[in-house]
Amino acid sequence: MREQKTVSEQSSKANVPATDAAQWWRSAVVYQVYPRSFSDLSGDGVGDLAGLIDKLGYLELLGVDAIWLSPIMRSPMADHGYDVSDPRAIDPLFGDLATFDELIRQAHDRDIRVTMDLVPNHTSDQHPWFSSALGAAPGSPERDRYIFADGRGDDGSAPPNNWTSVFGGPAWTRINDADGEPGQWYLHLFAPEQPDLNWDNPEVLADLQTTMRFWLDRGVDGFRIDVAHGMAKPPGLPDLEHPAEVLHHTDDDPRFNNDGVHDIHRAIRSVMDEYPGTFNVGEIWVESSQAFAKYVRPDELHLGFNFRLATVDFDADQIREAITESLAATESVGAVPTWTLSNHDVPREVTRYMPTGDDAEGLSDDELLAIGTARARAMIMVELALPGTAFIYNGSELGLPNVDLPDDALVDPVWENSGHTDRGRDGCRVPLPWEGTEPPFGFSTETDTWLPIPAEWSSLTVESQLEDIYSMLSLYRQAIELRYARLEFSGDTVEWYGAPEGCIAFRRPGGLICALNASPHPVPLPPGRILLVSTPLEAGLLVPGATAWLV
Ligand code: GLC
Repeated sequence: MREQKTVSEQSSKANVPATDAAQWWRSAVVYQVYPRSFSDLSGDGVGDLAGLIDKLGYLELLGVDAIWLSPIMRSPMADHGYDVSDPRAIDPLFGDLATFDELIRQAHDRDIRVTMDLVPNHTSDQHPWFSSALGAAPGSPERDRYIFADGRGDDGSAPPNNWTSVFGGPAWTRINDADGEPGQWYLHLFAPEQPDLNWDNPEVLADLQTTMRFWLDRGVDGFRIDVAHGMAKPPGLPDLEHPAEVLHHTDDDPRFNNDGVHDIHRAIRSVMDEYPGTFNVGEIWVESSQAFAKYVRPDELHLGFNFRLATVDFDADQIREAITESLAATESVGAVPTWTLSNHDVPREVTRYMPTGDDAEGLSDDELLAIGTARARAMIMVELALPGTAFIYNGSELGLPNVDLPDDALVDPVWENSGHTDRGRDGCRVPLPWEGTEPPFGFSTETDTWLPIPAEWSSLTVESQLEDIYSMLSLYRQAIELRYARLEFSGDTVEWYGAPEGCIAFRRPGGLICALNASPHPVPLPPGRILLVSTPLEAGLLVPGATAWLV
């Protein structure tokens, strides 16, 4: 087992020059904690901050630089925390400010930075601002903090435009006036419980800046900015030209990626710049690389959360294109690339990489799972071989697959709002299995956890993987450690090597070579000494669905 990392060891990482200490995030490994699902110490079946503190030793062992906490602020939990009713308080479900301060203290003692989600596009409908807007008259300053509009038609009974919610159903809800008569409509790009803020109102920015300072003053090291390509709305709120799918949007969609958003990011950045050593990363769902690059210009976000590797198939051409385009985008503005295989909104990679259709013909469920798992092993080695910031979603390091939950277990608002046409994101949010042989596997003392944990996960617990050198967890630990320790991982670029059909190979300036075999055949390796392989070689060849690191 690896020895505990000390502060001096950490700051002397071979591939991070000491002068870049304030920009530690440029090559960091950031671990996303979905708080409901990580570890529950209170015994109510939902994860909490005390549970996270309890597991900091595990995160130190894994070797991550920082955690990103999905929202822990006060929330009625209509969207599991992404509906915030008080952005400067901790929800009692997760703990309190004293526990949060303790988390920061203990994490920092272990040299782990703490970053947290900020949700600037919308609030909860239980936020005091929204309650007062409901009680105020159309055109009032209270209503002006949100996006209220009169309906269309003589009696205003049709919504102001044809926008749909990302979660399904209309993006507008009509309210009753004080006299009980139907009144204006308000906009919510997500659930009706998440009214969109009006970013043309200066009070909205001022309040976000107060929130940022509130957390930064407590020692937070950065933020993940939710829907960072949202916030600004186009003048006149023009109709959607074609219907948008649930949980998806394209670049011509007027609901997102409007130019005004860049001024908002500049204003957010000005606060970050008061706190050296902090960073923010924005959730940016745009298709075009040029559009993506705009968000990470020097005076906007430090980092953009890049979904490309999380959305391509296990296909060499697609993976290579995702990498090339991502690098070109960030390079064009002098920014740092980021990578991830998944997060709390997308299906887990083990499941995404399982063969489907003809490729799955004749394979048992166990065989499909084994292939998905082997490919996920290969892809984390690709991710960690790339320059920039690597994000890991909790449970990836255990090789958790998505869970096919029964209808009556589903709690993602997408399930209800889509009229039961989209099952939503619960399948990637199932609590982590820690130890023991049956659910809830040490996640909680309560067996009725907020999402049920499959009994089959007994072989995926942390306990069962820690001492097994061939486990996913051991691969993550070795790969993260090598990435830190070895000079071969230095340099901001990748040079592509010729590779057999269905394979990719690239070299970092420091000398690391990463070769991925996404073809159905074993292939020879590029020359070099092997540092790590995701699956053992066979007859000296890299097997299908495997990655090798060489120096
Ligand atoms: C982001 C979050 C997602 C949430 C949505 C609304 O996409 O990642 O989980 O539902 O914003 O806040």
